Amino acid sequence: MTDLESDWSADSNEATHISLATPGHVLHTFNPKFTYPIFGEEERIFGYQGLKINLKYHASDMRPVLQVTYNKKFKAVGDTEPTDLKKILEDFLPKTAFEKTTDFEAAIESTSPDWEPPGELWKTIQSGAKTFEVWKGSLADMPIQQMVKRIQILVPFFIEAGTLLELREPEWSLDRWTVFLLYQKTTENHAPKTSPYTFIGYSTCYRYFLYQPTTPPSSPPAKRQQVVPASSHDITFPLPEIKFSALPCRSRISQFIILPPYQGGGNGSRLYNAIFDYFLQDPKTIEITVEDPNESFDDLRDINDLSRLRLDPEFAALKINNKCSVRAKGPIPSDIVDTDLLEKIRTRYKIAPRQFYRVVEMQLLSLIP
Ligand code: ACO
Repeated sequence: MTDLESDWSADSNEATHISLATPGHVLHTFNPKFTYPIFGEEERIFGYQGLKINLKYHASDMRPVLQVTYNKKFKAVGDTEPTDLKKILEDFLPKTAFEKTTDFEAAIESTSPDWEPPGELWKTIQSGAKTFEVWKGSLADMPIQQMVKRIQILVPFFIEAGTLLELREPEWSLDRWTVFLLYQKTTENHAPKTSPYTFIGYSTCYRYFLYQPTTPPSSPPAKRQQVVPASSHDITFPLPEIKFSALPCRSRISQFIILPPYQGGGNGSRLYNAIFDYFLQDPKTIEITVEDPNESFDDLRDINDLSRLRLDPEFAALKINNKCSVRAKGPIPSDIVDTDLLEKIRTRYKIAPRQFYRVVEMQLLSLIP
């Protein structure tokens, strides 16, 4: 790094501060994990000394205000100019983001205490004295879309290689997406004029066609829309004459984030299980999958899938066949466990084969004395 760069550049992860606020209070402030999708591979911002990028959110409706402060700004010399921060961040924030803290404060002061998250209430989860709610809605619905525009910058901030959703797609395509929002609801001891909702995290999920060429394959093309088993082909585009939301599908968790101050306390599990419960009762979902899970999401998924399956008497009663000995890698053979039974359990819980057999292996290993 040259002297010019070291004097005038800042680490973009350290310079960026995200806060959650209620009227007159800042609840939490934290830094992003990644900023390279926004400020470039080096994660450095040129042209400022004492730079602070403050992205403050109203903790309930997640309306943001963006404030950039610094002690000194570099005076452009030829092509060497300070990074245009507002221009760069514009692509990641809603057009309605406030620019002045005073406007933001006034807006959040006037938020009705009766404000409710967008979409519809899917689940209320009581955990000790704490109440959580999961709200859900289609990305084709305006209030959900507005929410996604406010919070989508969290994807590049916290998910490695995470990208923003394309919101300019036609309605049928947006309607493939369901957004789940996790909130904590304070029912006691909260200021009466403020909203009881605090945003904790969210997840986006989309539906994938399951397409089955008719059996036998010689059936006429008119039967194209006949669909189903998980083993059949995925189709990633709609057949024009078919109402997409009416078709059996795989439902895939795409982006999943719990805000850092709320991680490690079971919130990821609460949201994951609520999503899982939703797709389990959805008759159109044949299988629940996850797009590019990272290691921590794999852990979360394993722990929760195993806990769920252990409540099933047939799964809990699984035994390793005495005849079996140490085996090589590969699918679990039927001389070790009853594979027909396993397949019955797997389809009942809509878990994708690879994930299911991973969890079965965890269960079987836990049985070895
Ligand atoms: N008290 C204390 N600890 C608990 C409790 C509890 N009541 N309940 C669970 N835990 C433990 C779990 O056992 C687990 O332990 P571990 O740290 O040893 O693995 C840990 O807390 C995490 O479980 P949760 O608290 O349920 O999950 P969390 O809220 O931390 O969410 C997540 C996990 C989603 C990965 C979160 O860390 C996150 O959002 N990270 C940043 C974004 C990210 O990586 N998202 C996933 C990308 S992949 C994708 O999007 C498909």
